[in-house]
Amino acid sequence: MWRVAAFLSFLILAYLLGFHGSGFLYLIPLFILFNIAMLFITVWEKHKRTETLKEIFNKIKNNDYANSQEIELPSYLGGIQNEIRSMYEKIQDDMDYMKKLEKVRSEFLGNVSHELRTPIFTIQGYIETLLNGAIDDQKVNKQFLEKASRHTNNLNNLLNDLIDISMIESGQMRLSFSYFNAEKYFSSIVNEFIPQAEKKSLRLILHQVAPNLQLFGDKEKIKQVLTNLIQNAIRYTETGGIEIIIEEEEKFGKITINDSGIGIAPEYLDRIFERFFRVNKARSKEAGDSGLGLAIVKHILDAHGTKIEVQSKLNEGTSFSFRLKK
Ligand SMILES: Nc1ncnc2c1ncn2[C@@H]1O[C@H](COP(=O)(O)OP(=O)(O)OP(=O)(O)O)[C@@H](O)[C@H]1O
Ligand SMILES: [Mg+2]
Repeated sequence: MWRVAAFLSFLILAYLLGFHGSGFLYLIPLFILFNIAMLFITVWEKHKRTETLKEIFNKIKNNDYANSQEIELPSYLGGIQNEIRSMYEKIQDDMDYMKKLEKVRSEFLGNVSHELRTPIFTIQGYIETLLNGAIDDQKVNKQFLEKASRHTNNLNNLLNDLIDISMIESGQMRLSFSYFNAEKYFSSIVNEFIPQAEKKSLRLILHQVAPNLQLFGDKEKIKQVLTNLIQNAIRYTETGGIEIIIEEEEKFGKITINDSGIGIAPEYLDRIFERFFRVNKARSKEAGDSGLGLAIVKHILDAHGTKIEVQSKLNEGTSFSFRLKK
């Protein structure tokens, strides 16, 4: 700024000297003084601007503003007020997001420790009882060992689910997509669950699949999805049965798993996909369910660009469905 002023005054001086000769020479020191004054003013203004900005940035740093509208810049800095306000809003959003992440992370760690504690304490309890003499009691020793072994399996399942979840959430899940014949694929998976269903006297039916229907997905991962959905259906159904329906649509195959089980109350329908969420915690814990199954299902289907839908009526049954590309 002062350079412009100096340049202009130089031009004026040259003009005056040019027209009126050396009679105006006395003006030279005046112009020099004027320029020095301009320089000081500019430096002082710059200093004032920097100090004001420093003060505002310090206030932002110390969280002194309740919201972005409280940031007000003096008129000589007004031009960047909106930029500073939006920067402030962006910082606040990022901080809120980080806080949320931190909360989720610590909740997850808390849940994991809690879930691990149950089987470990139970196994420890059986082993200590056996060591304290029960090992020689023919009536209970085998039973205690079997229970300890069952809880070891639960622990193993929980760890496998945790590994799956952390692989998926850290973006390390590798998918290997291919086309597969729907009829063959679904019937071989459903057949694996017939013994489990028969144990509870439940019907397990796969409805007729269009013979040439080819679907696209990661076969292993989709098997994990179906395993959890069919296992849940068997687990939460006491009478009737489970039917699996594959419908051919224009661009997709729609897979539906219907059961005639206990159903899920409407207020829980959104929550069942949360990690560790179980409607009946006590019952699930006893059975060794981690409550991670549907969270994994959701992640896998997300990675396939599709989503899971659920409909349920208490004491009537539940229906889960998703689509795969043809
Ligand atoms: N078909 C169903 N009928 C009734 N309730 C269900 C059904 N499927 C899931 N749920 C409810 O949703 C909860 C979460 O299911 P999810 O598969 O995530 O966990 P889980 O089956 O309890 O344990 P995991 O699958 O990890 O062994 C279950 O605990 C159950 O309360
Ligand atoms: Mg499950």
